[in-house]
Amino acid sequence: MVADRPDETWEKPALHVDPEQSFGRRITVTDRLNIREMTDADLPFLKQMLANVNVMRFYPHPLSAEEAEAWLRRQQNRYANDGHGLWLVEDRQTGASLGQVGLVKQQVEEKPMIELGYMIDEPFWQTGIAREAGQACLAYGFEQMKLDSICSLIRPENIPSQRTAESLGMRRSEIVKFHTAEHWRYHIDSPRFAS
Ligand SMILES: CC(C)(COP(=O)(O)OP(=O)(O)OC[C@H]1O[C@@H](n2cnc3c(N)ncnc32)[C@H](O)[C@@H]1OP(=O)(O)O)[C@@H](O)C(=O)NCCC(=O)NCCS
Repeated sequence: MVADRPDETWEKPALHVDPEQSFGRRITVTDRLNIREMTDADLPFLKQMLANVNVMRFYPHPLSAEEAEAWLRRQQNRYANDGHGLWLVEDRQTGASLGQVGLVKQQVEEKPMIELGYMIDEPFWQTGIAREAGQACLAYGFEQMKLDSICSLIRPENIPSQRTAESLGMRRSEIVKFHTAEHWRYHIDSPRFAS
């Protein structure tokens, strides 16, 4: 059995959104949040967030404007090729951009996995946004995509991210090599397997 792959009955959504239009395809909503695909209109927000040294503390370096644009293109390619990727998290009431969250295909030590990723812009930290958005993505992954298991790959020194994973019910398993650095692999299995 190959875990961490969308179930074959999951129909990859057609890319019906013009990436230049300002409203990306909606993935899901929560009490406070709208989670949707990113479009070119989100580039100014991404450039700002990805250039912030505090937000990027556990990444190799903050991103330049060109690198932020390449980041957005990678997500848009993922939407087209995989049907999922990192999505935009926005405030349902105001429409303000708060961060990104999503499900990303990864290859970890030659094993295919689906990773829950999250990054929230600094002004909104510790207000429960990552937890709320992360929960919605796990539900999407298990209920819509019928994944068996979802992981998060977290640098050992990234305590806020580890706390977030734990608050989502993820459990730490082993240290893995990912993008040349050691990461803790956290994971959670589909509730379908709960006894
Ligand atoms: C990690 C990150 C996404 C957390 O976002 P957030 O919206 O502040 O998290 P939440 O408010 O939803 O908190 C989730 C849990 O983490 C805990 N937490 C959040 N920030 C914390 C911090 N700085 N120190 C300790 N615990 C923290 C919260 O208390 C909460 O736990 P609880 O439910 O048991 O109370 C945010 O700090 C971030 O974007 N960091 C930079 C990017 C990054 O490192 N992404 C992860 C890469 S693996």
